[in-house]
Amino acid sequence: MPPKRSKVAATDNNANNTINSIFKTSKRSLVAYSDSKLNSRPQISNQNLTPIQIYQEAKSLFRRSSMLTQSTGRNTERTIIHDFLSKHALVDKPGSLYISGNPGTGKTLLVSEICEKLKRDCGEKGRKEACKRRKMNKREIEIITMNCMTVGNAKDVYDKLAREVGGCENEEDAVKYLQKVFVNRDGNVTFIVVLDEIDTLLTKDQDVLYQLFEWPTLHNSRLTLIGIANALNLTDRFLPRLKAKGCLPQLLNFNPYTVTEIIAILNHRLSILQTTVQQSLQPLIDSRAIELCARKVAASNGDLRKALDVCRQAIELAEKEYMKGESRSENRADIERIVRVNLEHMNKVTMATSGSSNVMKIRQLTLHQQLLLCTLFIMSKQKKGYITYGKFQDKYISHCRNKDLYSPVTQTEFHDLTGMLETVGLIGITYGKVKRSRKILLNVHESEILAAIKDNEKVMLWME
Ligand SMILES: Nc1ncnc2c1ncn2[C@@H]1O[C@H](COP(=O)(O)OP(=O)(O)OP(=O)(O)O)[C@@H](O)[C@H]1O
Ligand SMILES: [Mg+2]
Repeated sequence: MPPKRSKVAATDNNANNTINSIFKTSKRSLVAYSDSKLNSRPQISNQNLTPIQIYQEAKSLFRRSSMLTQSTGRNTERTIIHDFLSKHALVDKPGSLYISGNPGTGKTLLVSEICEKLKRDCGEKGRKEACKRRKMNKREIEIITMNCMTVGNAKDVYDKLAREVGGCENEEDAVKYLQKVFVNRDGNVTFIVVLDEIDTLLTKDQDVLYQLFEWPTLHNSRLTLIGIANALNLTDRFLPRLKAKGCLPQLLNFNPYTVTEIIAILNHRLSILQTTVQQSLQPLIDSRAIELCARKVAASNGDLRKALDVCRQAIELAEKEYMKGESRSENRADIERIVRVNLEHMNKVTMATSGSSNVMKIRQLTLHQQLLLCTLFIMSKQKKGYITYGKFQDKYISHCRNKDLYSPVTQTEFHDLTGMLETVGLIGITYGKVKRSRKILLNVHESEILAAIKDNEKVMLWME
């Protein structure tokens, strides 16, 4: 995936105005979704949804990949990043910021939100007007974002960055070229480079990382660097050496989400749903159920992705109940009869995700989650080497087609369901750059799978 790059502009004098407008609370509608690349869900803006569509909309909102333009909370972190950019890139002073924090604590979301807003607010029109008003020379800010997981070799970071700033691709030359561009007394471009998942560079070639953090410290540098990492011990290993070299970046840690913060984030998603459906309707998830989910997740590791998974599963339970019930209707006028997620649904899901036995956990899974697990069971019995994510997906699809009992779920759904199996601890997925090459580990014994599904005709038929 190529790094994202965009040029915006600022002048020394308008830096403060710019940054103030960047961090102004957006007054735009909460219904605005973003990033079609991450989530190509259709935008539904009318209020003519049937109950089934409401469940679909809700499940989509609580998907891990459902990135919203606006994050909820994280105001302290937002202000710190705001101040950092005000003191550096926006007044043409180099600097570096090192952001760390557990997985799912909103690091990528917040930084991309800030960069996107910076791009929007300092767009071409704003730049021309600001320069005209102040009769100033324009100075451009170029924002480059890159996920380091996408580079095979640490030094490829140089090539990618060099390509982005319009230079050579040869690694030796790329370093020299970048140094010339980033450390340039006469240049009129200030660079903001955001490197996400930089911990992957540390295991590959640490010198690259040290070089990157050194550039902002050099005289005449025009580089503002933001590095994001989620490896917990990275700070201890990486920072002392940077300190010794005099390149210590400003530090910002994202603490795991607290109960209150998780509740606020989940409620925000529910409010989006309500705006889409009908303001007067009760929220789809009961407040006590939201609180239970938030408590459970905060007590484990505060990973927001888990909270989203749990809510999504609880919505599926409510949907199942609605589909079975007599009040089921395809009619929009009947949305009042929709089954809302209550404490009991949420309790079932949280029990399944923690504490209960594997057999219980498997029984609580949805049909396709069980089919996915059974696919892994079949594959492990065939003992054809380790199971990769890609092979797993291919096998599931081919088995669905061969059996012709159930259509395979879509690719996005497949990723979600697999993510949920990981969340409940039934499978493990190793970390890896290429998703299809990641290894899948079955964390339950085959006998537990058999015990859980033996009375389930639908699944047994599929397994035969
Ligand atoms: N404050 C928030 N408001 C709304 N959604 C959030 C918030 N924080 C996290 N999320 C959601 O949680 C998911 C994970 O967030 P994000 O990718 O930013 O985490 P991260 O800290 O970068 O994790 P990792 O270290 O694994 O990369 C995303 O789907 C995001 O939409
Ligand atoms: Mg991230």
